[in-house]
Amino acid sequence: MDLHKANGAENGVGRESQNGQVSDLRLFVGNFVHSTKSDPLVMLTDTVLGISSVNIEFLEPIEKLDQIKATYGISDEDVTYMNDSQFMIPGLIDTHIHAPQFPNNGLKLNLPLLEWLQGYTFPTEAKLSDESYARQLYPRVVDRLLSNGTTTACYFASLHLPATKILADIVKEKGQRGLVGKVSMIRNSPDYYRERSLEESVKENEEFILYVRSLNSPLVLPIVTPRFAPTCSQEQLEALAQLAKNHQCHIQSHLSETRPELAWVKELFPWSESYTDVYHKCELLGPKTVMAHGIWLDEAEIKTLKETGAGISHCPNSNMSIRSGLCNVRRLIDSGVKVGLGTDCSGGYSSSILDSIRHAVQTSNTLTILDGDHKHLPLSEVFRLATLGGAEVIAMDDKIGNFEVGKEFDALLIDVRAVDSPIDSEENDTLEDRIQRFLLNGDDRNIMEVYVSGRKVHNRNAKRKT
Ligand code: GUN
Ligand code: ZN
Repeated sequence: MDLHKANGAENGVGRESQNGQVSDLRLFVGNFVHSTKSDPLVMLTDTVLGISSVNIEFLEPIEKLDQIKATYGISDEDVTYMNDSQFMIPGLIDTHIHAPQFPNNGLKLNLPLLEWLQGYTFPTEAKLSDESYARQLYPRVVDRLLSNGTTTACYFASLHLPATKILADIVKEKGQRGLVGKVSMIRNSPDYYRERSLEESVKENEEFILYVRSLNSPLVLPIVTPRFAPTCSQEQLEALAQLAKNHQCHIQSHLSETRPELAWVKELFPWSESYTDVYHKCELLGPKTVMAHGIWLDEAEIKTLKETGAGISHCPNSNMSIRSGLCNVRRLIDSGVKVGLGTDCSGGYSSSILDSIRHAVQTSNTLTILDGDHKHLPLSEVFRLATLGGAEVIAMDDKIGNFEVGKEFDALLIDVRAVDSPIDSEENDTLEDRIQRFLLNGDDRNIMEVYVSGRKVHNRNAKRKT
């Protein structure tokens, strides 16, 4: 390819074409890498991708570039030309992250889950009772995720209504795609950090749903968020399921993360057949439900997830860092359960989905070391989990997850030879080598531009200059 780089306007603007039609097309020219249902690693080389403000309109071979530009009256200021060290991938999707736990990222991983929650996590989340603190913390969270290439995030906020509204405001303001949830927890929680009554819980959740809807943003959605079965009563789980049904909302929670938690759930819900059964009987499982972890599931539970269409957010850094267990993702995928990746900050110490990709690969490799019959997940399959898999888990695979025509343009412009790049690339690297090196050795320094729904929401070069 012998193409020059033209950094034009942020978004295409309406213009006259040769035949007098007005178009708001913007073009990206170079190599694109994405996953489809049938192929985890599709490389579209020397391609012209056209977007009209939000959606992908076409993918054409580079030979048609001049013709496309003439037909639509597109000048170079509305074309992004990638060079040989650059390519585009779909935006990364974090299907499980705790925004108020960011101050603990990289800290306090010496305790197992239940003690970690009581000792570190609840006190940290409780600080979000202060709205000014939320205004200070949450912009940093969203900025960090955007620079890491996370175009869509499924957020647990705290149990505070005002601070959770602030998180929704900030996600909207910064142009990220996000599902935002006010955490619900009414029992087995410290007095300083729990909802006061079932009525209050339902009322505040409903107010939050209506608030997010009033923002009128197609990118920010509310998600009903019972923390996990041990901190919710049966009545609360049922009431929240009803609320989600009434408002056609997504639902998220934690499922089967550690063995002590399983025993506790059995004790708290003696009528249940399993942890999954608690959520199933309370009618929380459906195609718009995201369950984090799912490490210790039995066959019947996996069948229930598959039948209800609920997805699993695989959070491998967290699973290793607080020693919860090794999730057998191969088993879930082969059983037809939807799987995406999550960082689970601060149970996981990194807020980057690239890190989740690496931990997912290593978790799968570890399962193969322990059992030679286990078929490890190749890097390409894990790349699919980070993009299209995540989109399936949040039931948005009709809108995002790859570069299929008609989908919204959520994308990252990657440069393996960016200034300060941590990648040791070789001159004769193939495109597949470059994507592999980026996934395993790259970081935010290689993520040059981030697009959500066609809008540029992060530009590393612009940031570096300020
Ligand atoms: N289970 C209930 N709450 C949490 C949490 O905040 N993090 C993790 N990893 N598991 C949980
Ligand atoms: Zn979590």
